[in-house]
Amino acid sequence: MSRNAHPAGPRHGDVYTEGHYAAPPADLNVLDEKVWARTIDRNDDGVVTIGGLEVTRLAEEFGTPAYFLDEADFRARCRAWSDAFGQNADVFYAGKAFLSRAIVRWLQEEGLNLDVCSGGELTTALDAGMPAERIAFHGNNKTPEEIERAIRAGVGRIVLDSFQEIVRVAHIAQSLGKRQPVLIRVTVGVEAHTHEFIATAHEDQKFGIALAGGLAAEAVRRALKLDGLELLGIHSHIGSQIFDMAGFEVSARRVVQLLAEIRDEHGVELPEIDLGGGLGIAYTSDDDPREPQEIAKALGEIVTRECESSSLRSPRISVEPGRAIVGPTAFTLYEVGTIKPLEGLRTYVSVDGGMSDNIRTALYDAEYTVALVSRTSTAEPMLVRVVGKHCESGDIVVKDAFLPADLAPGDLIAVPATGAYCRSMASNYNHALRPPVVAVRDGEARVIVRRETEEDLLRLDVG
Ligand code: LLP
Repeated sequence: MSRNAHPAGPRHGDVYTEGHYAAPPADLNVLDEKVWARTIDRNDDGVVTIGGLEVTRLAEEFGTPAYFLDEADFRARCRAWSDAFGQNADVFYAGKAFLSRAIVRWLQEEGLNLDVCSGGELTTALDAGMPAERIAFHGNNKTPEEIERAIRAGVGRIVLDSFQEIVRVAHIAQSLGKRQPVLIRVTVGVEAHTHEFIATAHEDQKFGIALAGGLAAEAVRRALKLDGLELLGIHSHIGSQIFDMAGFEVSARRVVQLLAEIRDEHGVELPEIDLGGGLGIAYTSDDDPREPQEIAKALGEIVTRECESSSLRSPRISVEPGRAIVGPTAFTLYEVGTIKPLEGLRTYVSVDGGMSDNIRTALYDAEYTVALVSRTSTAEPMLVRVVGKHCESGDIVVKDAFLPADLAPGDLIAVPATGAYCRSMASNYNHALRPPVVAVRDGEARVIVRRETEEDLLRLDVG
């Protein structure tokens, strides 16, 4: 298990600090298909290609750093999720992982729905033509203005996150003469095995309304009384980058138990449950993610079993994968700038990006891998730390990885599995220009989010 899944488990980096280096891969030129997008290959000249295009040519045309996204892989993953969950379930792509107008169009073409969690994401979704009824609106503190906009647009569901919000959404809907379909987000008390900052179903955190102490039942009581709300069901999201299905099973069981309590108390069988997102992906070869088919089967079985034992009709299930759809589909391409061997310690490889295009390593201690992609090499493996160009020693992109010892400035290296939460959490720290996202498909590359320019930075500066 890697640190992505179990922060407390054995760590590649820990092994290194104790002087026992993790073994380098047998051949550094081989790209593990588990962590790379589907159409990645290496051509006869040793240059890595995506969608049939050489990274060297892509770097010339689009510059570095840049994210290259495999459109065919993205679409295939959308289809895998919707096929796995079938007709009796809905898949909502979590836009926070990465959103742009092109993404919204692909989602529509592949039959997925969309989860948004801010006015900005809502605007992007609507602007790209996503039908409002296929949008779910999330967030623990949606502003009244955002709520009004969502209701006016006719979003298919708003996920209510607090007692205040139950009243707020009901009031705004009523004042617009509407009855808004809603779900109530509950915290089921599951400790997901993931980084503390991305675990969301234990009780001591800001999201949702706890099942414990009857709070969720009270929220349901209040929501059912309000004319502005049409209560569709219950929502639970237990965290992110999770490999172990046990947490989802407990969550599903507790949510169904709440449906049974609601039926007993109010005589109403709520028709929907949403079990959130959070399925882990492979960032390194140590990670073993679950396939959508396996997830759908496990969740379907547990919901059916729990419903049967409470004599409930099976509700419609929805899920909200973000990372599992977009994460594996992209890599970040960097150019090596400087190489600094520190005798007896490690070699620092500085690239032309850093924590501004991938904050996950600094923020969550996330693990990534890296490969030399502009050529092959038969040189010995050297243990490196890939760092960025920011004024901060925590500006680390890949903490511990092996690259060939003949690595040189000007080489292109790529970090795979950066499709989720890298561009979407990118910043302008040190006035860095956020990199473009380039979609590649069948030998064609097209920018779907352009690179920022210095004019973009100056445009916001009104002094
Ligand atoms: N649904 C809800 C209500 C969520 O809050 C999230 C993620 C998702 C779905 C999608 O989760 P996913 O399938 O992508 O794991 N920035 C962090 C992840 C934060 C996730 C926030 N919510 C990271 O880089 O790991």
